[in-house]
Amino acid sequence: MLGGDAALVKRKLECIDAGSEYCPCYLAETNECITCSHLQGKEFCDCNWRGVCIYQEYVWSGYKSKGIRCTCRAALLEKKYLSPNTILFRLGVTRTLARELDNPGAYIFIRNEDKPSYFDVPMSVMAVNTEENEISVAMQVVGAKTKALESVREGLVIRGPYWNGILGQRYLKGMKDGNCLVIARGIGQAPAAKVVRYLCRGDNQVKIIADPGKVGTIFIKEFIGNAPCEIEELDLTSKQGLRIINKYLKNEKYDIVFSGGSDKQHLYIIQEIDKVQDKPYLVVTNNNEICCGEGVCGSCSTRIESGVRVKACKVQLDVRKAIERRILNG
Ligand SMILES: Cc1cc2nc3c(=O)[nH]c(=O)nc-3n(C[C@H](O)[C@H](O)[C@H](O)COP(=O)(O)OP(=O)(O)OC[C@H]3O[C@@H](n4cnc5c(N)ncnc54)[C@H](O)[C@@H]3O)c2cc1C
Ligand code: FES
Repeated sequence: MLGGDAALVKRKLECIDAGSEYCPCYLAETNECITCSHLQGKEFCDCNWRGVCIYQEYVWSGYKSKGIRCTCRAALLEKKYLSPNTILFRLGVTRTLARELDNPGAYIFIRNEDKPSYFDVPMSVMAVNTEENEISVAMQVVGAKTKALESVREGLVIRGPYWNGILGQRYLKGMKDGNCLVIARGIGQAPAAKVVRYLCRGDNQVKIIADPGKVGTIFIKEFIGNAPCEIEELDLTSKQGLRIINKYLKNEKYDIVFSGGSDKQHLYIIQEIDKVQDKPYLVVTNNNEICCGEGVCGSCSTRIESGVRVKACKVQLDVRKAIERRILNG
């Protein structure tokens, strides 16, 4: 049983699915809801959710979870190598799914249709064409699951939509007419492309710093449409690269910095931000290991302050605390 601060922390967690058509989810049926105290088995209501009451929705849906995400076959419209280890998949999906995925942080599970469900791999949605009902993902081939996808010729099985691929989404969503810096390395360019388009739609000024990293190429330009951004190539692992980032942070007064890359990269950027006076909001890719995406399997469990364990596939973790804890404390 949680007491004091830990109980408070658990109650104030922000679930990415709250208020969506997939809420309440399976967690409500087992008194494990992330947001609603009634659906955590308590007798009182003290959630901080400002949308339609989750408990009410649960009652209206007959004390059951709502909308199970679709697992369906997607037509492979294009498969193209962006570099020797990176593949672009352009997929035909339903109109509803294309619309639901047209958000920064959106991702799907994808697998070779000849393989069992444990070959599912989370992949960020890099671009969406809602008129043609198409989505694009870029995949770096690394291990068993991605190698199985590399050999795909026709259809793939996808599951979605999921949205917690980016942490700090509330800063992105509130940003208008701001000055933003997008830093992306390697395959981190895939989620960054969606962030750039989203920020540009909100009349923000966006500068992109891209590092080819292990994928060996800068492909983000192709997927940001005609977004008016300056792109600079930099080696983010070098001292000089970090010095340049520091110079930009000092001189340009950014409102938001997005980091697409490893947790180590996020940490370096946090350390550079800490050296400047006007600190921008930080938004980063969610690098936890995600298997079900539904808050059920526990593979993404991570400890936050007060020792509380949370499911990183569902919760919008505090960026700084999550990264510092994972990198510095293991
Ligand atoms: C929200 C999200 C979005 C992602 N978007 C992209 C993307 O757009 N393009 C891309 O190429 N990759 C993306 N990834 C990473 C991708 O899921 C892993 O590279 C892939 O699962 C590796 O599987 P594998 O069997 O080929 O390699 P493995 O040999 O199993 O693993 C290689 C590396 O990938 C990590 N990994 C393995 N399984 C997972 C998992 N289920 N979730 C997260 N990391 C895992 C391992 O920790 C290891 O570091 C994303 C991951 C997440 C969580
Ligand atoms: S990925 Fe299964 S609980 Fe988060």
